[in-house]
Amino acid sequence: MMKNFIEDVLILFSVFFSVTGAGEVIYAQVGDTVTLKTTEYNQQKYHYWYFNNHDNKLRLAWLNPLGGKVLLQDKNWKISLSGNSLIIKDIRDEQFGTFLWEHNSGNSLNLKVTTYTVLKLRVMKPNSVVLPGESVSLGCFVDAPPGQVKPDVHWLDPRGVRVKNNRGTLDKKAESQDSGKWTCVVGTKNTAHISVSVVDLAPSPENLYSSTSSRLTVPCSLPSWISWDHLKQKGIQEVQWHFSPKTSSSPASDQRLWLLHPSPGSSFTWKKDKDRDLVPVSDATKRNLSLSRDTARVEDRGDFTCSMAFQNGSTLSRTVHVEVLQLASFIGTEFTSGQTLNLSCSTGEPLTSDMQLKWFPPDQSSLLKSDRHGAHLAIKEASTGDGGKWRCELWRRDLLLASAELKLTIEPKLSVWMLAIICSAIVILILLVILTFILCRRKQHKTRNHRHRLCQCKNPKPKGFYRT
Ligand SMILES: *[C@@H]1O[C@H](CO)[C@@H](O)[C@H](O)[C@H]1NC(C)=O
Ligand SMILES: *[C@@H]1O[C@H](CO)[C@@H](O)[C@H](O)[C@H]1NC(C)=O
Repeated sequence: MMKNFIEDVLILFSVFFSVTGAGEVIYAQVGDTVTLKTTEYNQQKYHYWYFNNHDNKLRLAWLNPLGGKVLLQDKNWKISLSGNSLIIKDIRDEQFGTFLWEHNSGNSLNLKVTTYTVLKLRVMKPNSVVLPGESVSLGCFVDAPPGQVKPDVHWLDPRGVRVKNNRGTLDKKAESQDSGKWTCVVGTKNTAHISVSVVDLAPSPENLYSSTSSRLTVPCSLPSWISWDHLKQKGIQEVQWHFSPKTSSSPASDQRLWLLHPSPGSSFTWKKDKDRDLVPVSDATKRNLSLSRDTARVEDRGDFTCSMAFQNGSTLSRTVHVEVLQLASFIGTEFTSGQTLNLSCSTGEPLTSDMQLKWFPPDQSSLLKSDRHGAHLAIKEASTGDGGKWRCELWRRDLLLASAELKLTIEPKLSVWMLAIICSAIVILILLVILTFILCRRKQHKTRNHRHRLCQCKNPKPKGFYRT
């Protein structure tokens, strides 16, 4: 438990040990916690800790075999013991130097002495936030007393690569990749870490896939540790969104979509430049500068660039290449059964060898399983089962990139059987009409004969009027 704690402290404060012939050398910065770790812990011994201040031994701690211990009471020394190791918290400028650990066994007068040398490490901290192109200075120096061999000091960049011949100091023009944790190495030990923050836009994917049936969000954002206040202090001039369509290769086709001037005092609002109805997802005070629309369109195929310009002339930008998957039917979406279906699913670019298309026809479709991977798809005689929702998916290995949908309507065509049924129905109807007609005629005929017999006149007259 205690051991873990000590290790944590060690890692936290970047204090490391090295053993030299003259005992152990420890590098620490003012304010660090320093642990003087002993090589053995034998309770049957007396242990004494001294700070060797100009040959004047200051006793810091003392332990006896019975478990008694005494620590120096001095507000300048924040010391404690872990086993018989000495821990000095918040080390002060005047507390660097030589420490002695003396120990003997209970019945022997022989004293064994181990020395520890704590050397002061001075680390120069750069500006907290820098723009690309601004200078970054890092320094890492060891204050060694005369006679002490000065160790080799160098820096590791955030990728862990040793910076050549810098002897502890480093001056360079900041680049985006300089952001991160720099490490000062003394001798062979990492002794200090320094964070360098170079302003940049958050990383965004190089290629973005969407489809004509899904949302398009072109990403661009500020990393969480950058605020607009930082950017204003650094002299930000403007933020722009540009679009360069795929169909045209001439640079003149580049269109500026949105513009933002975050000048001090003025409100943060995006101004629309070119009407592509892709809108910023949030207001400009947020870190999210992405553009978005409900569905992607074929005309959105191309390069979107989000850029940020500063007074010092540097420009930061991120370009996202947008691919839009489209499921299209060459001859409309309404068919009658028996017609040829001719569908395509494509981003307008050939697929690379690791990409694959998958078609998902409606459940009742007659499309063969083996035909479900091509960019073009034809069904010679469509049936009503082919009507409904078609989906096609674009995959890169195990990753779904985009999925597009299309709804087809297929009306049934009149079949021979249906024709036969309809014809028979018509014939029966006609026969019925004829039959009714004949029956009526017969009835009328009978009635007329009857009337003739009653009134004996040439033209039969309605009964009621001519009775009198
Ligand atoms: C920006 O907003 C979009 C849309 O709300 C969201 O999908 C995206 O994850 C956001 N990006 C960041 C970095 O927050
Ligand atoms: C589908 O339509 C495309 C474009 O009109 C044409 O080139 C292709 O030959 C058609 N395929 C079939 C099987 O009809």
